[in-house]
Amino acid sequence: MEPKRQYYTTPIYYVNAKPHIGHAYTSIAADVSTRYKKMDAFETYFLTGTDEHGDKIVQAAEKQGTSPKEYADKISLLFQNLLPVLNVNNNQFIRTTDPAHIEVVKKILTKIHDSGDIYFDSYEGIYCFGCERFYQERELVDGKCPDHGVEPEVIKESNYFFNMSKYQDWLIDHIKTNPDFIQPKQYKNEILSFLKEPLEDLCISRPKSRLTWGITLPFDEDYVTYVWFDALVNYVSAIGYPDHEQFKKFWPTTRHFVAKDIIKPHGIYWPIMLKAAGVQIYNGLNVHGFWNVGGSKMSKSIGNVTDPLEIIKTYGLDQFRYFLMREMVFGLDANFTEDILVSRINSDLANDLGNLFSRVLSMMHRYFDGKIPTIDNTLEQEKDLSLESNAKNAIDEFKASMDLCKFHNGAAAIWRFISTMNKYIDTHEPWALAKDESKANELALVLTNLVEGLRVVAGLIYPIMPSTSKKMLKTIDFNQDREKDFSTLEEIAPWGQIKEGTIIQKPEVLFPRIDLKKSAPKDETKKTKPFKPALKEEITIEEFAKIDLRTGIIIKAESIEKSNKLLKLQVDLGVEKRQIIAGIAKDYAPEDLLNKQVIVVANLKEAKLMGEISQGMILAAGGKKNLVLSAFEKEIKPGKQVK
Ligand code: MSP
Repeated sequence: MEPKRQYYTTPIYYVNAKPHIGHAYTSIAADVSTRYKKMDAFETYFLTGTDEHGDKIVQAAEKQGTSPKEYADKISLLFQNLLPVLNVNNNQFIRTTDPAHIEVVKKILTKIHDSGDIYFDSYEGIYCFGCERFYQERELVDGKCPDHGVEPEVIKESNYFFNMSKYQDWLIDHIKTNPDFIQPKQYKNEILSFLKEPLEDLCISRPKSRLTWGITLPFDEDYVTYVWFDALVNYVSAIGYPDHEQFKKFWPTTRHFVAKDIIKPHGIYWPIMLKAAGVQIYNGLNVHGFWNVGGSKMSKSIGNVTDPLEIIKTYGLDQFRYFLMREMVFGLDANFTEDILVSRINSDLANDLGNLFSRVLSMMHRYFDGKIPTIDNTLEQEKDLSLESNAKNAIDEFKASMDLCKFHNGAAAIWRFISTMNKYIDTHEPWALAKDESKANELALVLTNLVEGLRVVAGLIYPIMPSTSKKMLKTIDFNQDREKDFSTLEEIAPWGQIKEGTIIQKPEVLFPRIDLKKSAPKDETKKTKPFKPALKEEITIEEFAKIDLRTGIIIKAESIEKSNKLLKLQVDLGVEKRQIIAGIAKDYAPEDLLNKQVIVVANLKEAKLMGEISQGMILAAGGKKNLVLSAFEKEIKPGKQVK
């Protein structure tokens, strides 16, 4: 039988900014899969690292007044130091500035160049000097660079190109005949649909006159290789392409973890590069979606780029790992807010798992002094008390999900078992059994079964929450004194491993409940709290449709006596006029408001403010001060619905 082996990689991250939760997610997902494969008796290898060449890095270094190498060293270290904090157990960390990597890039370039698939050609295109890159017409905004707002210049440059179109039909066939090559399916379809159009050849070089921070082409001293021909090669250079044992052992088993942003290089360029270099094609890609924060894409300008270190410091590591794995459906985008995180911690972790753990172990202490009791198996049981088949189902469902990177389903399978155990306590009422001496054997059996169930849960949560798994097993004195810190699925499965006489510890609180109000980051001086503002609970589109938003025009505005906050407005809503009392007096003088267009919540219940009737509300944004009224870009008639 083929030995069970698995090689996992994450993208190598650019060192032009420090790590955020998106990077943390991919690394944790690959870690969870690696740990899971170990439980399934695989020999594993796990690689991550940093991508350090290219103009973005040069620019970032320049901004800080340092050299690209010094800058790369500094940021790469942030990525390296994050791994132990995330409890990510990688075997290797590669940097594209490593000499061994550079050698392999040159070797592969030479091979492809020798085979005739790399050619030299001149190229005319529109170029933005600010971005230091060529643009396609369609990428411009009003004919200008979207980043610099200037018209790009037409320049002519000679470069090396990789002939990809030659391999297009081969790649389509490879993807179709290997259905798991790109998973989940939607990304495979995306790549196939992209391959319906003829592939353009890939420009793989930059003249040194423009960029020196790269790897010199082995066949032309005046050029460096560009981004992907350097970066993608890390996956083979790290494990010793072409001759090293590690390479031979692990390369055929490779699955690359990437997010949807880089499926084209991974799903198209990379297999074609390997094919052209005569290297076996990797096994496949596991593609996940993007984390948004507070409903928006993470961006510096919004100020919602979320630092995993901050979250872990406030909420705990296993809580963070659990949340990431449980909340994102692998392949789809997910949303991060502090509220969602807290509600997962409080309900799934503190309530469901934490309570189960402390209830069971406290009862073991209360009724049996913390010692697994003797069970008289000769006595016939009135009911079937075993949880064995539920545990078996949980293990089977967990395995089926984790094999496909459906981490959220894997966690859900464990949590269904946890909920079965919580119900089991409620139906068997150990506290009632304890009052009846004739039920002593049943009580012993019920509680021992529950400890047995906790053993299974602790075993299964290992890939997602390694520390909690260990803590739970230590408390029930199971699996101590072992070399490895996990049990294989095969070891977990057999029911009845908890031995009588075992002394269990008093339970400690696994997951403290979080009070959202108290959990705000302590450093109030910080301007941007990374995961603020916490958004409100999700609503459905039907719920949103209940709110009748209309365009309105302010036709009269006056102050209200004794109020320095409120203004009395008459607003034309097209079909009718409304009186609205608005708290905007600190920011708007009545005379500034005449003929202003506003958005009105038109179906708000009538209210009285300072003795005045208010028939709606107008929308504004901002804090107590600096309120700004909502407006429209162009003139619009009153009474129109705002959708
Ligand atoms: N250096 C290239 C990759 C070369 S791999 C041979 C690169 N670097 S990156 O720093 O931009 O990292 C991109 C990867 O970071 C994504 O594919 C994903 O793994 C992770 N993420 C970055 N932002 C993310 C989210 N908002 N959400 C989830 N993951 C994201 O591209």
